[in-house]
Amino acid sequence: MRKNIVAGNWKMNKTLQEGVALANELKELLAAKAPNCGVIVGTPFIHLASVADLTKGSVIKVAAQNSADKESGAYTGEISAAMVKSTGAEYVILGHSERRAYYGETYEILKEKVLLALKNELTPIFCIGEVKEEREAGKQNEVVKAQLEASVFNLSKEDFGKIVLAYEPVWAIGTGLTATPQQAQEIHAYIRGLIAGKYGKETAENTSILYGGSCNPGNAKELFSNPDVDGGLIGGASLKAADFKAIIDAF
Ligand code: PGA
Repeated sequence: MRKNIVAGNWKMNKTLQEGVALANELKELLAAKAPNCGVIVGTPFIHLASVADLTKGSVIKVAAQNSADKESGAYTGEISAAMVKSTGAEYVILGHSERRAYYGETYEILKEKVLLALKNELTPIFCIGEVKEEREAGKQNEVVKAQLEASVFNLSKEDFGKIVLAYEPVWAIGTGLTATPQQAQEIHAYIRGLIAGKYGKETAENTSILYGGSCNPGNAKELFSNPDVDGGLIGGASLKAADFKAIIDAF
């Protein structure tokens, strides 16, 4: 059966020292009682090794927020999946809408990134979601279908079974606007249906589909109570240990 997961996405926030302090605080908050879900923190690259060391043996797993579409070589400034893996991180967030919008990550580039992540035994947390105009035009289903078909539906059934999906409506990210629990459930169920159509019911039932977009301690419980919402990808609210813990406690 699929896993419930609460994953933080720190984005470009926190110096190394601040990030280590945040991870430490979270570790202490979670030490008293094991959470009812998987917990992941998505840190900047430079924090990965320190945070992975610090959280070793705890319930907290570590994710990068990106990895390269090339294996190695003359790609100044890039970080490969193998490098991410060597830090102790186990996950990588791929296809975040900010990467797509600001760094030109196309369907094709993301397809390569997912393949390389899997090859290096990282679990991709693959993000999909529509922008405001697409939602207003009722095109959200079309959009997420195209994103899945172009970048992850090429995977074998075995490999697809290793990935985590995150539905993040772009209009809800960092805006304080949240999809209603009904909107989230509707599209999560649609996404699960697409997976069932492509890989069969069992794979669909085993795939964790997280919701992201202004998820906070006040709305997490209602969002997570939907049958097809298997947790959250949390931006702003993951930057405070107490808020992130409160979202984890929604399970
Ligand atoms: P937010 O970001 O929680 O700040 O809206 C979510 C995300 O971008 O993953």
